[in-house]
Amino acid sequence: MLDLSKYQESFLTYLQEQDFKREPNNLYAPVDYILHLGGKRLRPVLTLIACDVFKQSFEEALPAAMAVETFHNFTLVHDDIMDEAPLRRGKETVHQKWDINTGILSGDAMLILAYQYFENYKPVVFQKLAKLFSKTALEVCDGQQLDVDFETRNDVTIEEYIKMITLKTSVLVAAALKMGAIVAEADEEQSNHLYNFGLNLGIAFQLQDDYLDTFGNPETFGKQIGGDIIENKKTFLYLKALEVANTEDKDKLLFFYQQKPEDNSIKISEVTRIFERNDIPKLTSDLIKEYTEKSFEFLSQLNISKEAKKGLRLFAENLMFRKV
Ligand code: IPE
Ligand code: IPE
Ligand code: MG
Ligand code: MG
Ligand code: MG
Repeated sequence: MLDLSKYQESFLTYLQEQDFKREPNNLYAPVDYILHLGGKRLRPVLTLIACDVFKQSFEEALPAAMAVETFHNFTLVHDDIMDEAPLRRGKETVHQKWDINTGILSGDAMLILAYQYFENYKPVVFQKLAKLFSKTALEVCDGQQLDVDFETRNDVTIEEYIKMITLKTSVLVAAALKMGAIVAEADEEQSNHLYNFGLNLGIAFQLQDDYLDTFGNPETFGKQIGGDIIENKKTFLYLKALEVANTEDKDKLLFFYQQKPEDNSIKISEVTRIFERNDIPKLTSDLIKEYTEKSFEFLSQLNISKEAKKGLRLFAENLMFRKV
């Protein structure tokens, strides 16, 4: 069996060894703040696992894992500005604690810091990592732009939504895995099966994120509940509700998603009730299951030990039921 705590601990030890207490303090203090704010450390753990399953050693993948986590945290800093989010991991977001300009520049620095971790690798591995990373980072930008564009569009389809979340979220989960395989110098075909496993898992992951944004426990979720509703995000919950609801609910939903009221409480509670009475939680979890199952098809094509496959499968199943 894969011992997940082993990877977590090893990554956290490596993170502790990094020194972000640099000058100018106003540039680096937010970097240090967000990277030590916690989080699930899902992506770096996947990088370490991927390296381990192909090479039976994972320490070599620590810089790559750090690159992925630093990049992920950079996207969160900028995403929270774009989404006007006040809370991240139960604490103030960077732009809330400092200001928007600080969030922009500290985020930029994090993107560059992420790339610097690749300097730990020999040229052939460096090139492969940098190439995949650049492609992925640009796709994340594409996804983030679509996410924002969708806020003011009212003809978004579920297909377009899946494409958007694939870009903003899944490609990084997939790349996190493939980067571990690159460090292990696994063959291309095997690395791509792992990538596709991650791609489908990432879609399931973002669907669950969208579900939790409305239905998560405010005590433990760590983000503002209803943030997506406030911002008129065209999530699966909203798009599916438009598809299945009666005319009355549909009109209500369309009405609320044309407003950005000062006081959001009525909008959030009304939209949540529309989602509930149209069985959206169940329909969302069905789709999450579908994508998780699809990810297993790629898992089965991997030439790795039975234990490793079992471990990755368990990891994916646990993500399906996550509450944070
Ligand atoms: C949040 O990612 C952004 C999404 C892609 C949904 P995580 O849920 O992995 O955030 P942390 O790192 O655990 O806080
Ligand atoms: C985030 O999507 C995707 C990226 C950060 C690239 P969300 O906007 O749903 O993420 P959260 O909910 O703020 O973590
Ligand atoms: Mg957000
Ligand atoms: Mg966002
Ligand atoms: Mg979200």
